[in-house]
Amino acid sequence: MTQPTSRRQMLGQGAALVGAASTGLLLPPSALAQTGKIRVGFMLPYTGTFAQLGVAIENGVRMAINEQGGKLGGREIEWFKVDDESEPSKAIENANKLVQRDKVDVLIGTVHSGVQMGIHKVARDSGVISLIPNAGVHIATRAQCAPNVFRTSFSNSQPTMALGEAMVKRGHKKAVWITWKYAAGDEAFEGFKESYTKAGGTIVKELGLPFPNVEFQALLTEIAALKPDAVACFFAGGGAAKFLKDYAAAGLKGKIPLYGSGFLTEGVLDAAGPAADGVLTTLHYGDGIETKRNKEFRLNYAKTFKMQPDVYAVQGYDTGLLLVQGANAVKGDVSKKADMIKAMEVAVIDSPRGKWTMSKAHNPVQDIYLREVSSKENKVIGVAAKALADSGAGCRM
Ligand code: PHB
Repeated sequence: MTQPTSRRQMLGQGAALVGAASTGLLLPPSALAQTGKIRVGFMLPYTGTFAQLGVAIENGVRMAINEQGGKLGGREIEWFKVDDESEPSKAIENANKLVQRDKVDVLIGTVHSGVQMGIHKVARDSGVISLIPNAGVHIATRAQCAPNVFRTSFSNSQPTMALGEAMVKRGHKKAVWITWKYAAGDEAFEGFKESYTKAGGTIVKELGLPFPNVEFQALLTEIAALKPDAVACFFAGGGAAKFLKDYAAAGLKGKIPLYGSGFLTEGVLDAAGPAADGVLTTLHYGDGIETKRNKEFRLNYAKTFKMQPDVYAVQGYDTGLLLVQGANAVKGDVSKKADMIKAMEVAVIDSPRGKWTMSKAHNPVQDIYLREVSSKENKVIGVAAKALADSGAGCRM
């Protein structure tokens, strides 16, 4: 068995009470809860196609908390980390490493929607405060919403809800959709389908391949043969960079305009190079948001981590801001879970993406931007949807 590392853990063991009076261990529980460190666990992908996304999220969380003095409600933090490998089959086991073994007070994770379902089960069973810094799987803030679970990113259909109309407005009435076949791709398609067909567009074909495969060649050949007005897609991370490059190498760039859920062009602009130029996407962030808040954030992030921030860094940053607000409201006594949850429900997050609030189902209500890649930047060229909320369908809290 591992050695107890906090007073709280020691209290969990009856024998440790011997001599407790002389060591101050007979303090009332609420006072005790405020003396040790707050235990915060990261469950993120640190390997595989989403590895850079995990790093950006962790950077963002740490940056937000460091800007607030590096503490939560006056208490120091002990950090724990698990690499989830974007592997759904290991998700419950990995989440339990943090919740049962490390006894974290707060679990921050993850990127991949399938892995999130494992975390979500553990969060609902244990009641641990669970902050989702990316994964958009609908059910987490719809039918299986939970008081202790908050998402600081998006629901999978939120970014694409605004994509279809932008495409039709540009005269692209027949589109092919292509994605990885798993929850994130399928749910991004739901948003696209609704907005595109409502605006008068027709989806001529849905194409897919299993996550995280990147053998796009046969599918690109099929797109060339179908000759649609445009292509729309969901890809992210390393796979997105490869898709952009393969699309250009197949000779489709310049012939059939490429659109996407904005993750397509996040964190990959160096890797994709000119292949990304001119690609139009919709997302809740854009590098070129012209606000003091965003400019300062970008400058500080670049200085601290020697790399440019992206949407994942912003989502991590906002997770840190939310956690600070929750922990400050209970002066670091995270055992006062109901009060902490209440504070997070009413939080206004002053984000680099623009201010946003939590929906009743604990998902951001936020603006969606239309962006175009130019000179290795996601330039904002318009607001595609104002204060867009996910439906939260079936959520009862
Ligand atoms: C997801 O699996 O929910 C997911 C992954 C990467 C993204 C967006 C969504 O960029």
